[in-house]
Formats: sequence, structure tokens, C-alpha cells
Amino acid sequence: MNQFEVTTLNEFILDNQSKFPKAEGDLSHLLHHVGTAAKIINREVNKAGLVDILGEMGSTNVQGEDQKKLDVYANDHFISALHSCGEVCAIASEENETFIFFDDERSRLGKYVFLMDPLDGSSNIDVNVSIGTIFSIYKRKTKVGEKATMEDFLQPGDEQVAAGYVLYGSSTMLVYTTGQGISGFTLDPSIGEFCLSHQVIKSPEDGYIYSINEGNYLKFPAGVKQYMKYCQEKDPASNRPYSSRYIGSLVSDIHRNLLKGGIFMYPVTESAPKGKLRLLYECNPIAFIVEQAGGRATDGHQRIMALKPTSLHQRVPFYAGSKNMVTKVEEFIKVFGG
Ligand code: AHG
Ligand code: MN
Ligand code: MN
Repeated sequence: MNQFEVTTLNEFILDNQSKFPKAEGDLSHLLHHVGTAAKIINREVNKAGLVDILGEMGSTNVQGEDQKKLDVYANDHFISALHSCGEVCAIASEENETFIFFDDERSRLGKYVFLMDPLDGSSNIDVNVSIGTIFSIYKRKTKVGEKATMEDFLQPGDEQVAAGYVLYGSSTMLVYTTGQGISGFTLDPSIGEFCLSHQVIKSPEDGYIYSINEGNYLKFPAGVKQYMKYCQEKDPASNRPYSSRYIGSLVSDIHRNLLKGGIFMYPVTESAPKGKLRLLYECNPIAFIVEQAGGRATDGHQRIMALKPTSLHQRVPFYAGSKNMVTKVEEFIKVFGG
């Protein structure tokens, strides 16, 4: 691609749409609105500190977590952007107790439901460390025109029609998949467009980075502790000891490991006996992306996207990244427990 040949997100979406004879353009239209909402959030993230958008909201969300002003800002903007696009009949968010049904004539006819973590890595906002947005899109199960129900949201990750994330980092990137591989787009602020920067992202089968919050070590399952020791042992033939890298923002840790190779782990901990990460709007969309890049994503025993969800904010243990690394930690969990 020469320097003048720019493929914008919208061009890429439309080009890809023509590959799906059955596509009626509604998913393309929806993805276009995701891009627009991401640009709006990016604008606020990039000037955070200059406007009154940092710090606590003084409220807690359904998770019992203190909401940051940017959590609420991102949530509100994604909800209004997706409401205005008319392709989504209902939306579920980490920041809302239950789903929001868009009960207007146009949205009722929307074929999709949308799930999101509007701002991932909130603890990093006030200290200028990268954060993200994660989204997951399903075809509704209920009849078009009717009210959405929880059945539309409690679908296994394998049913996702699209998923992706936005990374507000040193540059702002949007990475998404519709099941035909993953591609990455970098926002060019000079033209306000997400431009194709990573045509195809494939994750190395092996990696030499492990990401985990070591502060929880004492309470990790025995299999995870043994795997961490394996990562830290000296064995030049297998490039060990690996490097430990942990940003505390799932999107950032996953994105680095996707490109360089590596494993991200969030096992059960004392404060999160079922795991911390939410199945529907963190683990499933990231698992879709990771698998499409040739990686693996499990709960330590089975594929994340095969799990049948039972509740909107359900949490699961999460191991995702280079295929051989995730397989290895599963072997340790099998032998030592986890
Ligand atoms: P969120 O900010 O949406 O609540 O997500 C934070 C998540 C995830 O981004 C990150 O990997 C993990 O929490 C970090 O948790 P610890 O601080 O417990 O390590
Ligand atoms: Mn999150
Ligand atoms: Mn969040």
C-alpha cells in the first residue's frame, strides 16, 4: 500500500460486505456507528485533564465499582450513537443493571443486540495509561418488532456476528472481526478517519510474555502458581524466563499479546471467587478476536465462547492469547488444580 492509498474503516466495511451475498448492509451501518462513537470518546479521552472529565462520578455501577466520569460519558455516548443508528433494538452495558430496549418504531425493527464495556481499564484513566472500549454484537433471537428479552443477550459467544475493541493508547485503534479474520484501523486525527493499518492480525502460536496481577498470587489456584513458576524458570531453549507485562487494562494487555505473542490470565482470586472479568462484554468479544487471530481463549477448562451464559454480568476465569501458552496453562491446571 503506497503512502497515499488509504483504506478507511467505512470503505473496508463496505468492501467486506460485498463478500457476504446475504448481507443487507445493516451490520455495516452498525459498525460505522461504532466507529463514530469511538471517535467521540477518543476526543474526550485525549483532552482528559483539560476538561472536567477525570475523576470519580461519585456513583457506583451495578458491579459495585466506583464510576469514573469517563465511564459514564463513554456509556452515554455509545448508547445514543447506537440508538440513532436504528440497527440495534437493545443494548447491555457493564454500567447498567439491565439491558436498555430502544422502544421506538425504527429501533424495534433492529436485527441486532449490542453488548459493551464502554470504558475498560477505568483505574488507568486518571494516570494517563491506555484504556479501551469492548463490544459484542448478536442477531436478536426474539422476533423483529417485538420487545427484546434477556434471551437475546444470554447467547454463547460462538453466536456473535461481530466483536471488537477500541484502544485509546499512544494512537487510537479499532480492531474488529465479523468472523473472517481480524483487521486493525488506526485513527488519523488529521482527517478524522480510522484507516486500515493492520490488514490481517495473526497471533504467534508461541509467545514469551505473561500477563497476570501477581498481587493475587497467594490465592491463585495451584495450577496457575505452577505455571507462573514455569514461566519464570531459566530454559534458554524455550526462551524462558518469559517477561511479565501487566497494564491493568484488558484491551491493552490483550492487544500487545495479540501482536507480539503472549498469554493473559485472570484466574479466580480471593476477592473474585468466580473470576473478575465479565463473560458477556469482556471475555466473549475478546475471545472472538483472539480465536480469529489463531489464538485460544478458555476459562482454564473449556472455550469461553462455548459457555452458555446464565446472567448479564456473570464473571468467569479468563485465559487468552497464544494457543500453545493457553494450552500449557490448562495442562498445569489439569494436573495441579485450578
Ligand atoms: P473495567 O475498568 O471495565 O472494570 O475493567 C477492568 C478490568 C480489566 O480491564 C483489567 O484486565 C482488570 O480489570 C484489572 O483488574 P485488577 O486491577 O484486579 O488486576
Ligand atoms: Mn473492563
Ligand atoms: Mn468498564
